[in-house]
Amino acid sequence: MSKIIGVIGAGTMGSGIAQVAAQCGHSVYLMDANVEQLERAKNGVSKSLEKLVEKGKFTVDQKSSIESNIHYVAQLEGLSTCHLIIEAIVEKMEVKHSVFSSLEKIVSADCILASNTSSLSIASIGSSLTKADRVIGIHFFNPATIMPLVEIIPAVQTSEATINDAVSLIQSWGKTVVLCKDTPGFIVNRVARPFYGEALRIYEEGLADFATIDWAMTHFGGFKMGPFTLMDYIGNDVNYAVTESVFQAFYYDPRFKPSFTQKRHSEAGFYGRKTGRGFYQYAEGTETSEPTKDEIIGKIIFERVLVMLINEAVDAVFMQVASVKDVDLAMTKGVNYPKGLLAWADELGLDWVLDKLNELFDEYGEDRYRPNALLKRMVKKGDKFYS
Ligand code: NAI
Repeated sequence: MSKIIGVIGAGTMGSGIAQVAAQCGHSVYLMDANVEQLERAKNGVSKSLEKLVEKGKFTVDQKSSIESNIHYVAQLEGLSTCHLIIEAIVEKMEVKHSVFSSLEKIVSADCILASNTSSLSIASIGSSLTKADRVIGIHFFNPATIMPLVEIIPAVQTSEATINDAVSLIQSWGKTVVLCKDTPGFIVNRVARPFYGEALRIYEEGLADFATIDWAMTHFGGFKMGPFTLMDYIGNDVNYAVTESVFQAFYYDPRFKPSFTQKRHSEAGFYGRKTGRGFYQYAEGTETSEPTKDEIIGKIIFERVLVMLINEAVDAVFMQVASVKDVDLAMTKGVNYPKGLLAWADELGLDWVLDKLNELFDEYGEDRYRPNALLKRMVKKGDKFYS
């Protein structure tokens, strides 16, 4: 019998996760405290499936069968028969604690209780449970129906059985699963920080403008979007909040220091596409910014951001946040990087990466540029990430 799935929170993420599970034939109970939101989610799922029918992915009959797999409920009690429940509500620890402890009184003893949180500790969420070995992080990317990556995050309390069940279930949904330690930002939101942070720093130093930095990253690096275009998509309010939360969570490590430029843009309400203005202007009739396509400056920018990203990916391996393979999978499948950062490092030569980082560290004398110890060790031994 196919497992019964519960999803709490019928917003952006919850409704997408419910749709993914329903498409895989599960009976899904989607709960939200706001009844109007349930109605919006129902319409959203229907529209999204309509598009998939147009694309030929599903027939009209399959669409209605998927839709009938989702039951919309306004009370937690509606989730009592579920085998696995994924919470996707507001990012506030006290609210999550209250929901998880109420939930435990309703569900069976072996129901897995997962959170889709992006920034909170799974161990802390689990502390609200009596039987905490069933807590786990199951972190989808937006939009959940399209993005292949799911980070699975066991907490210190999580049992092996919970990990194995969660991994095999999410893999059966056709998702690419990576396992990662319960540390701030997990893999993607930690390793990707320099893509934004170093780009902002380069701008603040006056080396180049937004459009030129974006051009450098797409032209030389093959990234689908430059950092400023991407930040405007994500929203400067959201991206700044993630950066600040990772910075605080890492006890103010200068590697993760947020930028005044982004803070000011956020304070001014220049959030990006959603407000019509971010680093760029989106209102009709406004001129598009043109890059200065200076190949020498462009290459300097690209290499500086790339070695900072690689240094962060190496640190995630060094601190055993995730395996080499999972760090690379996370960045290619979660944020569409053109190559895995560690495979890229091998290709460029780890000694070349270390030299570039040492140049930055010598010039600035700032801790943010310190090369990772694992990188230094590997260069000394002549090792590579992939043999
Ligand atoms: P959202 O604001 O779109 O949806 C949250 C929903 O939860 C709302 O419909 C709200 O009515 C409901 N809700 C709030 N408190 C509730 C409660 N006590 N009981 C039942 N329902 C409640 O939020 P979104 O963006 O879907 O995020 C949800 C979670 O997913 C957060 O933990 C967030 O960090 C995480 N996340 C968000 C991503 C994104 O790109 N938006 C990506 C990955 C994770």
